Amino acid sequence: MNAAVNRGFTLFLTGLSGAGKSTIAERLAGALRREHGREVTILDGDIVREMLSSGLTFSRADRELNIRRIGYVAGEVTKHGGICICAAIAPFRSARDEARARISQFGEFYEIYVATPLAVCETRDPKGLYKKARRGEIKGFTGIDDPFETPEKPELSIDTSKFTADEAVEKILSRVKKDGRL
Ligand code: ADX
Repeated sequence: MNAAVNRGFTLFLTGLSGAGKSTIAERLAGALRREHGREVTILDGDIVREMLSSGLTFSRADRELNIRRIGYVAGEVTKHGGICICAAIAPFRSARDEARARISQFGEFYEIYVATPLAVCETRDPKGLYKKARRGEIKGFTGIDDPFETPEKPELSIDTSKFTADEAVEKILSRVKKDGRL
């Protein structure tokens, strides 16, 4: 049996709100459970902000703290041979790099840039937040009046305006399989 197969790893999806991170995360988890019999932990920004990071704002310092918490939990999951899928905007390179450094001690870290263009995210606007941000009712909204630092060397980059969520899942799984981790 390939020793790499039962090592843990983390799939860290980063990208704008509405880019498709949560949809891809859910489908990935389903495929990993169904096709590979693996347990999966999802750390989705919206849930984490309710359960682990309630009270945090969207200031730079709080976003960094939010990602530090996500990185810590993902590291623990990875350490124990699990698969963790993180799906948060994670707009700051420094915070993503810190998560990478922590998690890589325990298993593979895949930074996956869900690179859907702002215009597409804004058209989708599933929660109506871009409209509010454009009207000035939300300040400091990522992509509108708050930065998103584009990943420089992600393991994968996927624009969901060009691929379906299922195709995105396939791309991610084939990369992990190629590395002998599934
Ligand atoms: S992160 O920047 O700290 O990584 P996170 O992924 O947890 O963000 O939360 C993002 C979600 O919070 C968005 O999908 C959106 O629903 C909501 N949100 C509320 N205010 C903001 C804001 N100012 N900027 C971005 N997202 C916001």
